[in-house]
Amino acid sequence: MVLDVKTQKPYQVTIEPGALDKVGEIAGKCKKPGTKAMLISETNVFPLYGERVKKSLEAAGFQVSEYVFPAGEEHKQMSTVCDMYRALAEANFTRTDFIVTLGGGVTGDMGGFAAATFLRGMDFLQVPTSLVSQADASVGGKTGVDLPFGKNLVGAFHQPMAVVTDPDVLSTLPRHFFNDGLGEVIKHGCIADKGLFEALEQGAALDDLTEVVGRSIAIKRDFVEADTRDTGRRMILNFGHTCGHALEKLHNFQGLSHGEAVGIGMVMACRAGEKLGVTEPGTAERVKAVLAKYGLPTEDHFTKEEVVAATALDKKSDGDTLRVILIPRIGESLIRPMGRDELLAAL
Ligand SMILES: NC(=O)c1ccc[n+]([C@@H]2O[C@H](COP(=O)([O-])OP(=O)(O)OC[C@H]3O[C@@H](n4cnc5c(N)ncnc54)[C@H](O)[C@@H]3O)[C@@H](O)[C@H]2O)c1
Ligand SMILES: [Zn+2]
Repeated sequence: MVLDVKTQKPYQVTIEPGALDKVGEIAGKCKKPGTKAMLISETNVFPLYGERVKKSLEAAGFQVSEYVFPAGEEHKQMSTVCDMYRALAEANFTRTDFIVTLGGGVTGDMGGFAAATFLRGMDFLQVPTSLVSQADASVGGKTGVDLPFGKNLVGAFHQPMAVVTDPDVLSTLPRHFFNDGLGEVIKHGCIADKGLFEALEQGAALDDLTEVVGRSIAIKRDFVEADTRDTGRRMILNFGHTCGHALEKLHNFQGLSHGEAVGIGMVMACRAGEKLGVTEPGTAERVKAVLAKYGLPTEDHFTKEEVVAATALDKKSDGDTLRVILIPRIGESLIRPMGRDELLAAL
């Protein structure tokens, strides 16, 4: 499956079992043989798939160097990016060379940020290996790192030259991380793809991961294309995130994953929508049942007062108004500005 992403710099997402062996060929459509490629990966993923990607790039005539950093969100920080710059500088990379990121969301965000900033910007090709990165993060152009006082506080919009997604690599992804990604996949079904949601409801969806990843990323693409710099319609992708982010904060970003928090947030948003008369009755129960089916939590011990108090105003809000995403029914969505007291009453 090949999806076109028509952002300012258009590119293609190739989703195909075995696609790891095609990275060189696909890079060859954008770059000349002899060009240097820096393969950026981390200590869990590189030993599993690094050699295959390297071989594929070399077979296509690229000069490959590699930079492998310690896996984990705690390494998504400026000092790791600095080490990437050092590796690039030592191998004499110029602006016409490129980076290949091989790994989950951490690798894509950070390698993409290095690409956005080294020599004021060079090309990168993304090879996402986690469900979060395959079904969500690899499209949208957001790159960046965490700071000691907050997640994703530094970053840049930088579109890849191509995304090469091999669903087969998900077979080695630990269950916990797979479920984390499912939270966003279910979200994409809720906001824009009733068929995807129903396939997940019926349970056979995961037999065809190419289809699930493809549909999920197609939805993200549609919202991103309409709003590359995230100032309007793209906010719909924040369904479940108003309460979800609040829960993550209340848990000090430990114990509850992002996808799990978003799942609980979606149930809360559906309940609020039902109470407000915006959401078809029974929707919250359906969302809850799908989450439970895939082992995701559907509620949390914090009270609704605590959750509402922990909600942050988004960048586009004015005064004390939250922009809560509601779904009239599965597959449809809207942005509803509301005060915290109104949200609390609806919950
Ligand atoms: N740019 C965006 O739009 C966007 C969107 C969502 C999330 N993110 C970012 O993505 C990150 C979370 O993504 P993530 O869950 O992929 O994190 P991650 O990159 O840390 O990967 C999760 C874990 O799975 C391992 N792993 C990845 N692929 C594997 C595979 N195929 N086999 C075995 N192990 C594998 C990793 O080593 C890691 O331990 C966060 O930093 C988040 O901010 C960015
Ligand atoms: Zn999210």
